[in-house]
Amino acid sequence: MSSYAAHIATVQARFDAALAATNFDSVLIYAGQPRVAFLDDNPAPFKVNPLFKYWLPVTESPKSAIFYERGQKPVLFLFQARDFWHAPVKIEPAEWQNHFELVVIDDLAQLTSKLGSKIYDAAFIGEDFAEPVASWQVQAHNPQALLDHLHFHRAIKTDWEVENLRLANELATRAHLAARDAFLAGKSELEIHHAYLAEINFRESQLPYNSIVGLNEHGAILHYDVYETKAPAESRSFLIDAGATYNGYCADITRTYAREDGFFADLVAAMDTAQQDLLTEIKPGVDYYQLHVSQHLKVAQILSDFGFVKGSAQSIYEQGFTSAFFPHGLGHFIGLQVHDVGGFLRNDRGDTFDRDPRHPFLRLLRPVEEGQVFTIEPGLYVVDQLLEAHADAKELNWDRIAELRPYGGVRIEDSIVVGAEGNNENLTRDAFAKLDA
Ligand code: GLY
Ligand code: MN
Ligand code: MN
Repeated sequence: MSSYAAHIATVQARFDAALAATNFDSVLIYAGQPRVAFLDDNPAPFKVNPLFKYWLPVTESPKSAIFYERGQKPVLFLFQARDFWHAPVKIEPAEWQNHFELVVIDDLAQLTSKLGSKIYDAAFIGEDFAEPVASWQVQAHNPQALLDHLHFHRAIKTDWEVENLRLANELATRAHLAARDAFLAGKSELEIHHAYLAEINFRESQLPYNSIVGLNEHGAILHYDVYETKAPAESRSFLIDAGATYNGYCADITRTYAREDGFFADLVAAMDTAQQDLLTEIKPGVDYYQLHVSQHLKVAQILSDFGFVKGSAQSIYEQGFTSAFFPHGLGHFIGLQVHDVGGFLRNDRGDTFDRDPRHPFLRLLRPVEEGQVFTIEPGLYVVDQLLEAHADAKELNWDRIAELRPYGGVRIEDSIVVGAEGNNENLTRDAFAKLDA
């Protein structure tokens, strides 16, 4: 059996279980359609419903839908607009077509007419802001119990999903290497961003998220996506957090570079070591929350070793200083979405783990299980807004922090597939090892 055939069998079994547990016989999954800006007729880039692309690698087919009845062959209503304004969506012959009853439509009325009274029993999953979808007489719209069940189990990736994630990481890595070279050549942020896109023949709307391309101080702005058009007089440091997609699956990679040997290069190397040390602690049964705390202690040790904060790693962590330098979570699930869902779910009935107010931005609290894929992305930055709260703390060495400020900060982010007994796959480092000759 091919990996896609095994994947769709798993998806179908997961939907069977989820529908049975939540008392539905069928589901109608709408791909979605582009939104237009206020008072305008210009569409925003289309982002397909993730639970639509879970079934098949079709990501550019707005107004399509999947109808699935428990135990039956799924029906794909493939929307092919018949108008002279738009190019028709190209659907190449592919294996997934063997697994669906294919119904080509050019009007959503054809979908409702074909389903007839069956639509009344269906759970609808998707966006329903536009007519005629908003008026479809379905049994329920996005029922939370059904979504929770699906989201909980979606955390365990099939082999086909991992293959796509591997290829997404290879694409993004190629682009990262081009971006690194552009940085070393002294290019502006916008030029680096363009070098990234050009290397993999992407347009911006194909990226899984706005790339973060920050030179110097901009490395400390966590979601920096302004892209200065002029190169700075001196490019000291470069933080790039950028991904790619393959068959709808996302890569999310961060690398930080120093132009020269010295203090900042040493800090990048120390963070890289701390991140790789943390990777050795990942195995089934460990709590992701514990990994997050363990990474904080390693960052605390770096804060001490580099003289930013006085004290032991434990005391630096306990006093909350690490959160000022490393304010975001250690990572998140990744797959069909960059921030894949389900990180707080305790079970498939929708119970959730309690959040720790000390770590409000941590998106993943579940125990680690074989088959999960998540990022590990520690950071260390000078964020003045966060340091203000510690303005009077005698443990902080402000002169040393001032030395770091012109470099922004460091983040290193890889995606990990959890294997048995800690036999994990690092999708990102494997891609760099393969491509960075
Ligand atoms: N690039 C978004 C993130 O790292 O979570
Ligand atoms: Mn991430
Ligand atoms: Mn990222």
